Amino acid sequence: MERIVDVEKISFENEEENTLRPSCWDDYIGQEKIKKNLQVFIKAARKREESLDHVLFFGPPGLGKTTLANLISNEMNANIKTTAAPMIEKSGDLAAILTNLDEGDILFIDEIHRLSPAIEEILYPAMEDFRLDIIIGSGPAAQTIKLDLPRFTLIGATTRAGMISAPLRDRFGMHFRLNFYSHLELAEIIKRASIKLECICDKEASFETSKRSRGTPRISLRLLKRIRDYAEVENETKITLSRAEYALDELGVDEHGFDEQDKKFLELLITAKGKPMGLGTIAATLSEDEGTIEDVIEPYLIANGYIEKTARGRIATPKSYDYFRLTPDSNPSLF
Ligand code: ADE
Repeated sequence: MERIVDVEKISFENEEENTLRPSCWDDYIGQEKIKKNLQVFIKAARKREESLDHVLFFGPPGLGKTTLANLISNEMNANIKTTAAPMIEKSGDLAAILTNLDEGDILFIDEIHRLSPAIEEILYPAMEDFRLDIIIGSGPAAQTIKLDLPRFTLIGATTRAGMISAPLRDRFGMHFRLNFYSHLELAEIIKRASIKLECICDKEASFETSKRSRGTPRISLRLLKRIRDYAEVENETKITLSRAEYALDELGVDEHGFDEQDKKFLELLITAKGKPMGLGTIAATLSEDEGTIEDVIEPYLIANGYIEKTARGRIATPKSYDYFRLTPDSNPSLF
């Protein structure tokens, strides 16, 4: 008999990332609007002694979707069980997860746009009526067994708002889009994390690192750890501006936060001389996966006005030409 309870479908997060995560609202920097809304909805749910309505987060990777899910669980005093859609392959996987939930638990499903339609079908009654419909047998003899589930809160996260099906999206009571962080917000996150990592980063060094973080806390924290490595081999516990600049330059991250792949992407669009370029061509030329281009590389470049997405493809904006000290009339073979 197939074992349907498979605890491996529920994972636990990377420990070090956890230690740097804020555990209360006061420690959470940025996303002010989302924070304010969530605080109200959590307070109301607690006052009514109900579970929180289902929550959907979307936005580029590294902006704190998982962090917010964990914060919600702390604030609701609820257990959180974390999984990702690619781990839920069969209906039995989801049935096992759902039947192992307790009243008030939070189920966090990352990359929720990757659930198969058959799995989504099981999720609908579970989200709406806290009911699991299990079909036994097939054809005319098939029978549906209905199981009551405890009231739980589903938190879904996706980098692709457009790829989540409408029926699934509509079953979430709250939708939040996470935005890129400002330099000031990131500098504060870096300063606080540096204290926890025992490598005090001064104000100028924090700000410089924030400018090179593509608006993304996960990148800030990654850069901070690498800068700390550079300081550590010099037996230094303090990170100054010059030390941060040196490490960031060595890491190949420029003053706009662009790495080699960003630069190649912009160069490619500039060489197209204003002709829109399709995603397939870009992916093939850069030897990069289309999904990575859409989820990771493009959002920051679009949000900061370096590229535009048109119906016929991507084009470089004047800001991209400025970045390379070129004008739209320059000869792109200058690269
Ligand atoms: N670490 C990662 N994201 C954070 C945030 N938004 N605020 C504080 N610390 C963080």
